[in-house]
Amino acid sequence: MPDFAVTLAAARAEIREGLRRTPPSISPKFFYDPVGSDLFEQITRTPEYYLTAAEIGILENNLEEIAAGIGPRAVLAEIAAGSARKARIVLGGLESPAAYAPVDIAEEMLAGQAADVRRDFPHLKVIPVAADFSRDFAFPAFDFDHSRIALFYAGSSLGNFEPAAAAAFLARLQRAAGAGSRLLLGVDRKKDPAVLNRAYNDPGGLNAAFNRNILNNVNRLADGDFDPEKWIPHQFYDEEKGRIELWLESAADQTVRAAGETLCFRAGDRLHTENSYKYDVDDVLTLAAPAWTPLHVWCDPAERFSVFLFAGRDTPPGGGAAATVE
Ligand code: TRP
Repeated sequence: MPDFAVTLAAARAEIREGLRRTPPSISPKFFYDPVGSDLFEQITRTPEYYLTAAEIGILENNLEEIAAGIGPRAVLAEIAAGSARKARIVLGGLESPAAYAPVDIAEEMLAGQAADVRRDFPHLKVIPVAADFSRDFAFPAFDFDHSRIALFYAGSSLGNFEPAAAAAFLARLQRAAGAGSRLLLGVDRKKDPAVLNRAYNDPGGLNAAFNRNILNNVNRLADGDFDPEKWIPHQFYDEEKGRIELWLESAADQTVRAAGETLCFRAGDRLHTENSYKYDVDDVLTLAAPAWTPLHVWCDPAERFSVFLFAGRDTPPGGGAAATVE
């Protein structure tokens, strides 16, 4: 069990460090308090946020091929699952899956996911794995009959890393899962900025509320007195950088206390909260190449989103030849 006091102190230190940067920033990990998680779940159900429906469509329409590429008796290990909605689709197509292993840093989240999946697959082993994937992690020894680990990393969460960190993360996943493993990876594509801007600016304001809610969580975790009403949320696509950026803009001159700091903001000053990189198919193959060989890529008919199936390379990440792509 993590020591809650230590975790809180670490969160406070991290918030303090981010707020002292130029420009100031708050780590996106602090979006996901219960209110934030609920807002995010609602965002994925808006018509503008096409990502979720596109990814689910790809999984459903190509389930047989996906299952054939993963093979029988695999352990499906879902990274940062959130709701296990998509994993349930994949599990439904797999031949004799050996287990479902949701991997997450938040243990309460894990318990919820495990319960959902147990209800739908009463005979399946469900093995929650608590891991901090900002560093190398290991799976427990699965001492039951299984063929391989099939990692599942959905929702274009890869885009929330900086590109170099995304490549390092993919290599770390390969080290944890091993050479014979598979990786099923869902990534949002570059596209018309108008489509992207709409996805992150739904007319109901859920994205804006989600972005701004991070301040409530900062107040709670770091004794802050941010007034969320005095911050204007901005979510926009920077085409040159190929990423959605999330910012909070100060609506007035104001002084805020948080994490023991006194911070002065002028009207118009901005706080950075997240990036969401968009990747063409080739970009993803390049990021993955040191650790993963591509087996297949599927897209939705509108070519907005892509799902990749990779096999773990048996050469150590960084030491292998470049991927050949058909
Ligand atoms: N990874 C997804 C994305 O980048 C989900 C997500 C993370 C998100 N932060 C978000 C969606 C903020 C909307 C707003 O799209």
